[in-house]
Amino acid sequence: MNILVLGSGGREHALAWKIIQSKHCSKLFIAPGNAGTAQCGLNVDIGVNNFEEQKKFCLENNIDMLVVGPEEPLVKGVYDFFQQDDELKHIKVIGPSANGAQLEGSKAFSKKFMLRCNIPTASYAEFDETNFEEGKKYIAQHSLPVVLKADGLAAGKGVEICDTREEALKAFEEMIMHKQFGEASAKVVIEQFLDGIEASVFVLTDGKDYKIIGHAKDYKRIGEGDTGPNTGGMGCVSPVPFVDNAFMKKVEERIIGPTIKGLNNEKIIYKGFIFFGLISVDGEPYTIEYNCRMGDPETEVVMPRLKNDLVDLFLAVQNGSLQNIQIEFDERTYATVVAVSGGYPGDYRKNLKINKFENLKINAGTIIFQAGTKQTADGIVTNGGRVLAVTSCGDNIAEAVNRSKSVLEQIHFDGMYFRKDIGFEFGE
Ligand code: AMP
Ligand code: GLY
Repeated sequence: MNILVLGSGGREHALAWKIIQSKHCSKLFIAPGNAGTAQCGLNVDIGVNNFEEQKKFCLENNIDMLVVGPEEPLVKGVYDFFQQDDELKHIKVIGPSANGAQLEGSKAFSKKFMLRCNIPTASYAEFDETNFEEGKKYIAQHSLPVVLKADGLAAGKGVEICDTREEALKAFEEMIMHKQFGEASAKVVIEQFLDGIEASVFVLTDGKDYKIIGHAKDYKRIGEGDTGPNTGGMGCVSPVPFVDNAFMKKVEERIIGPTIKGLNNEKIIYKGFIFFGLISVDGEPYTIEYNCRMGDPETEVVMPRLKNDLVDLFLAVQNGSLQNIQIEFDERTYATVVAVSGGYPGDYRKNLKINKFENLKINAGTIIFQAGTKQTADGIVTNGGRVLAVTSCGDNIAEAVNRSKSVLEQIHFDGMYFRKDIGFEFGE
């Protein structure tokens, strides 16, 4: 099969790395890709939201399968675009319909869906310009901290956790009245703060059946000890010590099962990944959010741990035969550590030369996934905030993390930064 992956991050490098190991993959293309994906297949200079160019490319190159990495093309309807086109509808698209992608594309949609399906989540209310005054009253009587979320996609920036009501009122006004995140914050979800420890669970579904393909804990803050602003993710570990069989059983019974049943009952077309963002409050799982795609950097630990042929799983999603598949995991511990460009998640520089990729001392089982990188005549340069994600395995979290750090210590670009404490709360 000829396969096209959409995206250009570490997630897409990890997907491409896994897909080329499949017996089904003849040719792999990545649009637009990065310097790392270029080692797995052919990068194609087409944007993730440029459906017309994707169509042309798919027809010219006999593409059989489209694997969608990021959320934006899904929310914009890439699945539906392919399905509704007579020339494209034979192509197997891995990702939900635009309707299914609303699980991520609209916080209000996903909260209502969770309520209908009786899925544990923080209590909430939604507001827009028409009931703005009511929203202010809602904040005035709300417990603290209080969580405000822009309804739509806001490049990971639409959530504010406010410790005071003044802060919350200001954020509420900024979002709704001053359109802080444009149309994405025309509507705002205000919800109860849940105090606990987070983990993400990843599922592949055809909208009727599902398989859990992995889980991970992401470290979102830029600073060590989980301090400073939120980022896309600075590192991950998998498996996560508190995600044991008893916790996972609750997650399946209370969250994953009801979600898939809800999709089926509501006839929402969904053939792709679901990322369950969970929080454990005293051992009880709640859903913080859904994403309609894999996580980044979670994919960089989930794919190496997954033993199955990924394209086999994609075909089972398309054929409705997921229930016949047994998922197998590498039982070792995996960790990934992300190196970013100085200043990230604020302003940062690009086109910084990465000075060393050859002759590195690397443990067996360590993989350098590339994110914001670009190949130039002069070598590989940075091309984004998150630049590399180095994944390693080990007998425990500390060993895996140390192996990744020892590789990053041999690589250099101006302003390079990575957290040294990924997995810190799980000890040595
Ligand atoms: P989201 O964009 O929904 O992933 O939210 C970003 C981050 O905000 C999450 O990963 C959590 O750390 C935090 N968060 C979101 N909602 C809540 C909540 N109700 N209670 C506590 N933390 C939250
Ligand atoms: N690492 C979090 C995400 O991919 O949304």
